Amino acid sequence: MKKTILSILVALLAISLGCNSQKKSSGENLTIDYQVDSSYILLPVEETAPEIKIKVGTPDQNNQPAYDVHLAQNKIDYWVPIDVKKYKGQKLTLSFLTLKESILGVKEIKYSDRFDFPYNETYRPQFHFSPEHGWMNDPNGMVYLDGEYHLFYQYNPYGSMWGNMHWGHAVSTDMVSWTYLPTAIAPDSLGTIFSGSAVVDINNTAGFGKNAIVAIFTSNGKTQRQSIAYSTDKGRTFTKYSGNPVLPNPGITDFRDPKVSWNEVSNQWIMTLATKQTITFFGSRDLKKWTKLSEFGQGIGSHAGVWECPDLFPLTYQGKTKWVLLVSINPGGPNGGSATQYFIGSFDGTKFTADPLPYPLWVDYGRDNYAGVTWSNIPKSDGRRLFLGWMSNWDYATTVPTLNFRSANTTPRELSLGMSGGHMIVKSFPAKEMNTIRGASKTYPKQVVEKEATLTGLLPKNKGTYEVEMTLKPMHSSTFGFELTNTKGELLKFTFDLKTNKLSIDRDKSGKINFNDKFKSGTSAPIVTKGSYNIRLLVDKASAEIFIDNGEIAMSSIFFPTEIMNNMTFFTSEGKLNAENITIYNIK
Ligand code: FRU
Repeated sequence: MKKTILSILVALLAISLGCNSQKKSSGENLTIDYQVDSSYILLPVEETAPEIKIKVGTPDQNNQPAYDVHLAQNKIDYWVPIDVKKYKGQKLTLSFLTLKESILGVKEIKYSDRFDFPYNETYRPQFHFSPEHGWMNDPNGMVYLDGEYHLFYQYNPYGSMWGNMHWGHAVSTDMVSWTYLPTAIAPDSLGTIFSGSAVVDINNTAGFGKNAIVAIFTSNGKTQRQSIAYSTDKGRTFTKYSGNPVLPNPGITDFRDPKVSWNEVSNQWIMTLATKQTITFFGSRDLKKWTKLSEFGQGIGSHAGVWECPDLFPLTYQGKTKWVLLVSINPGGPNGGSATQYFIGSFDGTKFTADPLPYPLWVDYGRDNYAGVTWSNIPKSDGRRLFLGWMSNWDYATTVPTLNFRSANTTPRELSLGMSGGHMIVKSFPAKEMNTIRGASKTYPKQVVEKEATLTGLLPKNKGTYEVEMTLKPMHSSTFGFELTNTKGELLKFTFDLKTNKLSIDRDKSGKINFNDKFKSGTSAPIVTKGSYNIRLLVDKASAEIFIDNGEIAMSSIFFPTEIMNNMTFFTSEGKLNAENITIYNIK
């Protein structure tokens, strides 16, 4: 995500437990009454402290959901804001449901009109979307309307760990520069708000208004059920439907992540839902009453984990329409933890049938692309199938070495069909908007590598946000590749092995790796033997996404170097490696 979005410059301008607040112990629980005279209540967080349940509301708001906050006990790692602007002038009560006595995190609460921090943390991505603060996982409700790409996302506004799931919200006109908007959908008596999708109801089938954005999501309470909410102001505010949930739970624990689209053949909305280890399709004329249509998935693809976040959409290949079904799975990814598999086949309006292909097939073979789905309502005149994933892995996502925010998304990608290894595949390649943020570039002459060759100082003012384009041609070499390196000896290594037909990424020496045992393991993708490979590599502070031959293979990998990697070393085991057409772009 580009920097233009934020002008966060000022440090915390706040006062501690001000004169307008009063602490007391009401019965069992500690409470603070606060006559609201500022925009935010800032809660001190210590990540390893136990969660405390906190409720914030006016005296007549007893049914507000409680939020879990790792309230500081011994030290303060960072603050999280509770936005109380709408209560200015009123009395609010903060109830600490599981606290009897004041602890550090209560004593150090601040009240402030600002919640600002510099947007320049060491691992803050600059051209990928990341949450302003707090935790993010799956992209949700991606929908395009009137020139705006909407991105909602699984969001914890009250800490950088998973929990309190809301839908965060941002908009963009190009999927690169994002503007943060207030949190869109908050937990309610049916539960927290899990993943889902959004559609534009062009024909007002639900009766919420023509062109209303309707969000369809999982209410995660005692069971998982599907609910809807609508917006008639271009996504700025959402109203939950009074008849929620619209799809009750049939007795399955994992019953979630509805992705909805209009199907012209059966003339109805189709909900593609993850149901344990299958996908169930439901149909509806009005987004409110849903009927089961069919189920897919037994005995096909990877079943090494629970199925999540599906998506179903058509793609055309040489004039023929094929249907693609994306299914995220965790664990069971090709390199451990979470990953997104896909099936290609047909959909007759009610039932999906997979073509016989060598499943499992993966959208991205790196460890860090999960729960990705595609944008709905992209104009026909554009016609692209645009995808975004969460650039992390449940194996270690909650422990990565960032503090006041956690996780980013992948670059926006265009999905298309192609052929590789003798069968059809889904290719994924950065959306063309990514070309518009290229800044000054540097080209290098052809390198004829025998054993090793290093390009030192790739870019003069390398801030860790750059793109590499090049062609690698092995000349009688079976093992070759390149490494990004820095002066501290840290490296990120990409190896092509034509004996095993694998491309692997090794991040074992890439900087900070000890935060989680599962972070280290090697990563590989199948490749076919060719005389030449076109490489595109996008680096953004703490991530590298590599695309081979226009997206035949994509691999996304996060890494945490302690210094920017501004050198590149080519290597070959035997023979020679020709590295040609090398251009390094600074990313603006
Ligand atoms: C996938 C997922 C979804 C769920 C959400 C909860 O990463 O587990 O299945 O809706 O995250 O945050």
